[in-house]
Amino acid sequence: MNKEEIDQIIMNVPESGQGEGRESPTKRFKRDLIEFFEPLHLHRCVEVSSLKGQTTYILSHIFDEVYFVEQPGLLQHHWEIAKNGILKDRNNVIPIALDAYKDPWSFKDVDVFFIDCGHVFSCACQDIDNVKKILKPNGYIIFHDWGLPLCGEKGVQRAIKYKQLPILKFIGERILFNEEDVFQFTFTDYADFEGVIVQLKGE
Ligand SMILES: C[S@@+](CC[C@H](N)C(=O)[O-])C[C@H]1O[C@@H](n2cnc3c(N)ncnc32)[C@H](O)[C@@H]1O
Repeated sequence: MNKEEIDQIIMNVPESGQGEGRESPTKRFKRDLIEFFEPLHLHRCVEVSSLKGQTTYILSHIFDEVYFVEQPGLLQHHWEIAKNGILKDRNNVIPIALDAYKDPWSFKDVDVFFIDCGHVFSCACQDIDNVKKILKPNGYIIFHDWGLPLCGEKGVQRAIKYKQLPILKFIGERILFNEEDVFQFTFTDYADFEGVIVQLKGE
């Protein structure tokens, strides 16, 4: 993919802003995903979870097949919005109803998991345990919201450190959150990066 093709894909997704708009990673994060993963030509990516499909749209240009996961009560609603909108022309996306914290994860031959779901420590630990059981050897995990403070702590960050996952790369913007209201934030050079890529070598 050349720079113009990447720019075109990025232009097609709305920017994630403050307040209600902060529901998806930033454009910088999405660009970093393309630049890192597209040259690797990997096959299957599972996104837990997808909401309205903004990052799914990006992933669908990088991988042959993308699973759009949402909790059972919301899947139909979000999938309709996505399929009638941003994912209209994408034919490699498969919707899956899954309660990530109650149902078993039974995906096969997964090269990459994109985890953007519960975000508190207990949920992030459960996500990691589920992924480790089924990810292909040398597969990757992308976590969004590495620095998001919820319930008084950065749950995703703490879980990744607690589970001793090897961080390969930080991606996205550096975001300083207002701990009283995480929908209020600024981009700064000294805050945590938005996300991380982990590779589970040989596991
Ligand atoms: C931050 S949003 C995902 C944004 C999306 N990845 C994107 O990039 O645009 C978090 C999503 O997790 C979903 N979620 C929350 N609890 C869940 C659960 N128990 N099982 C599955 N999905 C869940 C929410 O419905 C929501 O869509």
